[in-house]
Amino acid sequence: MVTSVSILGATGSIGASTLDLVRSGNFRVVALSANSDVQKLAELAREFDADVVAISKEQLYGELKSALAGTRTKVLAGPSGMAEAASAQSDILLSAIVGAAGLEPTMAGFAKGRKIALANKECLVTAGALFMREANAKGAIVLPVDSEHNAVFQAFACGRRDAVSNVTLTASGGPFRTMSRERLAHVTPEEAVRHPNWSMGAKISIDSATLMNKGLELIEAHYLFDLKPSQLSVLIHPQSVAHALVEFHDGSIVVQMAHPDMRIPIGFCLAWPERMEWNAPKLDLAKLGALHFEAPDYERFPALQLARNALLQGGAAPNVLNAANEVAVEAFRKRALSFPGIAALVEGVLEMAEKEGVLREAGTVNDALGVDHIARRFAATLLPQFAAKAS
Ligand SMILES: NC(=O)c1ccc[n+]([C@@H]2O[C@H](COP(=O)([O-])OP(=O)(O)OC[C@H]3O[C@@H](n4cnc5c(N)ncnc54)[C@H](OP(=O)(O)O)[C@@H]3O)[C@@H](O)[C@H]2O)c1
Repeated sequence: MVTSVSILGATGSIGASTLDLVRSGNFRVVALSANSDVQKLAELAREFDADVVAISKEQLYGELKSALAGTRTKVLAGPSGMAEAASAQSDILLSAIVGAAGLEPTMAGFAKGRKIALANKECLVTAGALFMREANAKGAIVLPVDSEHNAVFQAFACGRRDAVSNVTLTASGGPFRTMSRERLAHVTPEEAVRHPNWSMGAKISIDSATLMNKGLELIEAHYLFDLKPSQLSVLIHPQSVAHALVEFHDGSIVVQMAHPDMRIPIGFCLAWPERMEWNAPKLDLAKLGALHFEAPDYERFPALQLARNALLQGGAAPNVLNAANEVAVEAFRKRALSFPGIAALVEGVLEMAEKEGVLREAGTVNDALGVDHIARRFAATLLPQFAAKAS
């Protein structure tokens, strides 16, 4: 049977891994999207003979249309085009846009019985309660692509949900795991994107270096699996082969392990509830010899604590945290902020949001996007102050 797939964020790292699997399996591509990479999107549309493509930047419509002249692919642009592409009928919608920009198009793709393979964790961090409520109301099935959440999803099959006592997400610790606080003040964006185990987009690689990524994932797990913050913990595991540990009331711990390759959790989602047969890289545990685990260092990596606090605080705090982090990471990439400045700016924005009373839970997507917008404005206002501290 042919499975039809649509991919939001097709030109990114997760998009590439997904299309790699699509090439080798029994799939048909319905819709593909990108933000601004017209050439790559057009190339992919031609290769996969996509029904629809959407480019988020409206002004690039003409360029994309010309690049696809002579093909049967329908070309769309802007927010409404993204929503139309997301809702084009297909069995699976793979949501792999980076950042809060993924929220609206992903939600536009909810439909009864449709699988939403969710890589975009920011959907859940920005408006988790709303996102899951809408998905359930529309009958969409949310499947986690993030390797840790995918591991939890798989381990949950080993017992009843009310028998789960604790869920531990593992983190590699990133490229600076053993670095001193003094050295951390001087690391460059080039060093930060060099992840030791995973090959990923720049934003998530930097989030992995600050450990903010693990913090966002705690929030993601809370909404995705309806777990209490007290049931969620983090362990540093530099080898990145044990992706999550689920502990049941009887003391048993179920661990999912796999080679650190995003095609494995993506393939799981594409084939679910079956298993995909492909030439997946296999783990050689004898060669690995031993598994290493250690507690995270919240002093050197304060972003993880900020995210945990935002999770405990609830309301719009995770949304504000995420928006501030997106601005901070972008500033770090442009060398306008130091590495420690990322967490410092996020903390400053959270304090400002609390003072200004914008931390109330969003009731609608528009509310959530409104808070996201305000938090970005606060971050832009505070940025010079934090940038100055770093220089
Ligand atoms: N990479 C991983 O291994 C990994 C693992 C787990 C979870 N995730 C999550 O998956 C998501 C994607 O990560 P990635 O590493 O694949 O990112 P990436 O390589 O940076 O790709 C991002 C994709 O989103 C598109 N995009 C960017 N900004 C957009 C906007 N404002 N509107 C619409 N589309 C936009 C990009 O289009 P252009 O190419 O045109 O810019 C690109 O197709 C993130 O939420 C990340 O946290 C990633």
